[in-house]
Amino acid sequence: MTAHYPATRLRRPRATSWSRALHRENILTPADLIWPLFVTEGAGVEEPIGTLPGVSRWSLDGIGARAKEAVALGIPCVALFPNTPADRRSDLGAEATNPDNLMCRAVRAIRDACGDDIGVLTDVALDPYTTHGQDGLVDDAGYVLNDATVDVLVGQALVQAEAGADIVAPSDMMDGRIGAIRQALEQHGHANVQIMSYAAKYASAFYGPFRDAVGSRGLLKGDKKGYQMDPANGEEALREVALDIAEGADSVMVKPGLPYLDIVRRVKERFEVPVFAYQVSGEYAMIEAAAAAGAGDREALVLETLMAFKRAGCSGVLTYHAPLAARLLNV
Ligand code: PBG
Repeated sequence: MTAHYPATRLRRPRATSWSRALHRENILTPADLIWPLFVTEGAGVEEPIGTLPGVSRWSLDGIGARAKEAVALGIPCVALFPNTPADRRSDLGAEATNPDNLMCRAVRAIRDACGDDIGVLTDVALDPYTTHGQDGLVDDAGYVLNDATVDVLVGQALVQAEAGADIVAPSDMMDGRIGAIRQALEQHGHANVQIMSYAAKYASAFYGPFRDAVGSRGLLKGDKKGYQMDPANGEEALREVALDIAEGADSVMVKPGLPYLDIVRRVKERFEVPVFAYQVSGEYAMIEAAAAAGAGDREALVLETLMAFKRAGCSGVLTYHAPLAARLLNV
């Protein structure tokens, strides 16, 4: 009887560390990361967020220090989210267009701390500024008004650009807002300010800890299903992305991240544009809970999930694990 040997042994290249390195198809570096940061009023303030263990809100001085830390770690960009004080929230979210609001002051604080060594991405949406926690203006029936909201978002993006934001990132899911913001940026001398559109943003149960962080969880009335996407839909995400590209988005985002990697892949294959994903607060909390429960190794879970985004086709990932991941990748 002649022995039968497999013609191909896929285990052969896996046998040694050098060979695995040689055959690796994707790489993850600190330059793939965008670090979301929460800003709060005061000085010398660090407020831990209960549902996001290891993540804090920082006052402006701390935000400057975090940005310096990012530069030192090789993280190219930070994303800012404000925890607006209750007395600055209103039904119309007018604080969003105040050129001296917390967000704008945070942009300037980072510029003072780091100059042009880091990219600053600002969130465009009204939920951190409204008393009802919705991302836009609501009518008497609680419906989020599209076009009236877009007018406010345009003003919000402009004060952020004026403060020095490099990338404005509308996370509100109103129709037509990318085109309106792009036109306004051009008209006001901000032709080089980029737009990263939250193009395929789903009405997700994974945003809970974020809403704690920006103080909107207790305020939110109803849900966001009237504007954020149905998790059942994939084709619709491609239509959202097509519109945002046509309206002038420089890059598009899929959000949440891990449960939606199929969307990342479909967007990347269909459109030749930079695609980013947001590994959102609930995903971060799941990894932290698993690690705390001894169900998995934190560092390995973080690096594996971030690599999965690269493999799916992402140019980069917004992740609260950015500083940890960068530290691990820099050794
Ligand atoms: C809202 C916004 C949300 C997040 C980013 N921008 C939450 C929401 O839509 O309610 C979530 C990010 C996260 O969970 O980490 N403009």
